Amino acid sequence: MRLTKTSDLWWKNAVVYCLDVETFQDGNGDGCGDFRGLTQRIGHFERLGVTCLWLMPFLPTPDRDDGYDITDYYSVDPRLGTLGDFVEFVRTARDRGMRVIADLVVNHTSDKHPWFRSARESRDSPYRDWYVWRDEPPADGPEGVVFPDQETSLWEYDERTEQYYLHRFYKHQPDLNVANPAVREEMAKVMGFWLELGLSGFRVDAVPFFLETAGSLDAPDLPDPHEYLADLRAFMARRCGDAVLLGEVNLPYEDTLRYFGDGVGDELTMCFDFVGMQAMYLGLARGSAAPLVDALAKRPEPPRDAHWATFVRNHDELTLDKLSEDERAEVFAAFGPSPDMQLYGRGLRRRLPPMLDGDPRWIRMVYSLLFSLPGTPVLYYGEEIGMGENLAVEGRFSVRTPMQWQPDPVGAGFSPADPKTFPAPPPSGPYAPTAVNVQSQRHDPDSLLSWITLLISRYREHPELPWGDLTLLPSPDAAVLIHRCSTDDTSITAIHNFSDRETTTTPGLPDGPHTDLLTRETVEVTTGHLTVPPYGCLWFHQST
Ligand code: NOJ
Repeated sequence: MRLTKTSDLWWKNAVVYCLDVETFQDGNGDGCGDFRGLTQRIGHFERLGVTCLWLMPFLPTPDRDDGYDITDYYSVDPRLGTLGDFVEFVRTARDRGMRVIADLVVNHTSDKHPWFRSARESRDSPYRDWYVWRDEPPADGPEGVVFPDQETSLWEYDERTEQYYLHRFYKHQPDLNVANPAVREEMAKVMGFWLELGLSGFRVDAVPFFLETAGSLDAPDLPDPHEYLADLRAFMARRCGDAVLLGEVNLPYEDTLRYFGDGVGDELTMCFDFVGMQAMYLGLARGSAAPLVDALAKRPEPPRDAHWATFVRNHDELTLDKLSEDERAEVFAAFGPSPDMQLYGRGLRRRLPPMLDGDPRWIRMVYSLLFSLPGTPVLYYGEEIGMGENLAVEGRFSVRTPMQWQPDPVGAGFSPADPKTFPAPPPSGPYAPTAVNVQSQRHDPDSLLSWITLLISRYREHPELPWGDLTLLPSPDAAVLIHRCSTDDTSITAIHNFSDRETTTTPGLPDGPHTDLLTRETVEVTTGHLTVPPYGCLWFHQST
């Protein structure tokens, strides 16, 4: 493949870093992270090589769903700072060559949002049709509660106006009626507002949920709901030509493909690869690359300039919902055997390093995969230093503990305040801030932080990885994944051993010495064979 595209398709080889302002750095000593603190930490991202920061919701909120329950789309949660602090932060990030994107929550608002307060006042409210109301929960309406521990229905009865409203998530998050043109216009205005303040796009929350509402409920006669997504994309592109929509679409590959745009125009720029992520965990549990090979072989090529977004962990439960029940049970048994580690029957509320017994070889191999597989890698804060979870904290908050900056057992360098005021306390034990923190790892060449910094710089140096064509090479040992990303002139061959034993493989490289791009060590290919250490990972560059 020839690299004819221009570099303003910046997302193709971006390194995205997701964080929650609330848990990243407290800049005013009140126990809550804020934009001032975040801005002071900008050098961390620069040293790591991050090119795009994804901010989780930072808008005013009663905070019953970690900010995904919004009460004002045009402001900043006062606990986190002001609009001025936000703009200073974006400006500083830009100065260091980084873009900023943020969550866009179109599916629902908080029930405390003035729109919903008005809507539930009376059936004649001008905002009544901004939400989805029914006299009775319809028999043919959407199905499946997302949070089975909290909700039993998608419909909540409103006493005052004697109708039910739809809520795909919690009952305190009523679904917006995106079939209503007024809602559509407002959401475009929200996007325009934040683009004007310097955002380079959005991580779009819960995409299939709001599109489903667009088509199937209030306006069954509406054209394809995907047109709505295409409209949002077109609007964004008019305002900011290189802005992106990174979509949360946890569906099988063939269904996800539609969300990139299938004829009605461009829709999402990137979709998270939930299927590949889950296959990887199954492979890790089995000590076999086969599930991931299978997923990659089935993974469709996104159309036009769209791209997959790859990840190891996000801020939610580590969902395993696309695995079969038996497969999920295997991953649970390997990585989260105690019911306390599991959530909603479909996921794990753990971070990677404790799941992999803290084995540095294994952990490094996983991140080597993240940066070598085609797709845009997305890191979740704390992954770069190998943070663990705090199971003493409820639900998904076990993986949303403060960023660990310093070996301070109490405040982790996150805040000098009383930890009782923190959004969640840092873990104790082997993953406490005394053991896992940025300060200790920063100047240690053997640390995970140094490893991830190295992976990022190699990934950025080698456009074959994000731009090249993927070939999966046959491996005599199913524990080993061999993949190659090739352009017309050059290729990178990457080898990953999912097992804890040394093995030999056939990397498809000529006999003789080859330099591993990661360690700069020379390894020998003899009669087509190469020795791979336990959990080994090697990258080779070749000119063709
Ligand atoms: C998906 C987000 O990732 C999750 O954290 C949130 O609870 C739901 N959407 C509802 O907004």
